[in-house]
Amino acid sequence: MKVATVVGARPQFIKMAPVSRELRKHFEEIVIHTGQHYDYEMNRIFFEQLSIPEPDYYLGVGSGSHGYQTGEMLKKIEEVIMREEPDIILVYGDTNSTLAGALAAVKLHIKVAHVEAGLRSFDKRMPEEVNRVLTDHVSDYLFAPTETAVKNLYNEGIEEGVYLTGDVMYDALLHNIRIARKESKILKRLGLTPKEYLLATVHRAENTEGRRRLENIIEAFVESGEFIVFPVHPRTKKYLETYGISGMVEKAGNILMIPPVGYLDMLALEENARKILTDSGGVQKEAYFLKVPCITLRERTEWIETVEDGWNVLVGSAREKILRAIVEFEPRGETYTYRFGDGKASGRIVRVLSGV
Ligand code: UD1
Ligand code: UDP
Repeated sequence: MKVATVVGARPQFIKMAPVSRELRKHFEEIVIHTGQHYDYEMNRIFFEQLSIPEPDYYLGVGSGSHGYQTGEMLKKIEEVIMREEPDIILVYGDTNSTLAGALAAVKLHIKVAHVEAGLRSFDKRMPEEVNRVLTDHVSDYLFAPTETAVKNLYNEGIEEGVYLTGDVMYDALLHNIRIARKESKILKRLGLTPKEYLLATVHRAENTEGRRRLENIIEAFVESGEFIVFPVHPRTKKYLETYGISGMVEKAGNILMIPPVGYLDMLALEENARKILTDSGGVQKEAYFLKVPCITLRERTEWIETVEDGWNVLVGSAREKILRAIVEFEPRGETYTYRFGDGKASGRIVRVLSGV
């Protein structure tokens, strides 16, 4: 059997790493990289560090509006599918690359397998919500990471083809955290003492595209007076410069803005942070897996287990709320990582596909 994996954005490289490792024990895999992310530190670094198979096709789509980006991907993925005639297309998560891969495949009557199916924020203004709902509704295999995800699918009338597998990001973390502990030098390089800094990431469209939300978030960071390590996503860098906010950060002196880091360095920064501030989906979960309190700069989350268990608090972009959480938020109780599987989701996914 021939599986074509479609990826293009940073978190998808991390998600595919454990799955490809399993997949290649049994099947032929071709990797189609849309080129959605292309900077070295958003792209190549993951292939180099995580031993991900090199893309067989690099479509070079790059950045652009949703319509442009998704449309270009759709056209180019279709060409590859017609040439390669795979049995299954495997897509991950909720980016424009996910939707384009799923759509190209279903129109050519190729089966679609969706890893991270059933996630919902119930906010259709998020581009990711549209991508994931549409992808789920054309998928033949829906690999749900959590019971919540399974329920969401049932509520939309999707029952056939749904498999509760656990979360492949948990697989990736368990595999890489030991390597990160041994190999990452980032704390030393940045002169950081464990638990004496906070870690922040911001990149969601809703937090960057409008000046007010981004400004509120940065003002809260500055006013907290905490030392905050901030690996800056290229989208955010662009808007910080456009809105003239970068200057405020530099003047304040308590925020260390650095380029995006590789996965191993990111895990090391997360594990040793006192608290994490983020609007990323993946980072919220990693904070939970590593038992680091997480302050989420959004009003909703798809990963509600992390909030239910008391390790994540949703504060949106309100300055006061962010500040209060930085000072006061202390998790209660345990983390229950089994809610995200047992670190063997990738094997389960491949076993299901073997029955095709
Ligand atoms: C995308 C996904 C988002 C995911 C995120 C992971 C969609 C709709 N969004 O958001 O779900 O959480 O990836 O990081 O698919 N840019 C660069 N260099 C790069 C990549 C991007 O400079 O290598 C800049 C460009 O100015 C680009 C902007 O970042 O316009 C946004 O990139 P894009 O891929 O459109 O969306 P993300 O915000 O990265
Ligand atoms: N990540 C990374 N370097 C960074 C920021 C994030 O390796 O500088 C990793 C992070 O550990 C997680 C994934 O990227 O595994 C999350 O991706 P991102 O926040 O871009 O997207 P989302 O999860 O929100 O879709």
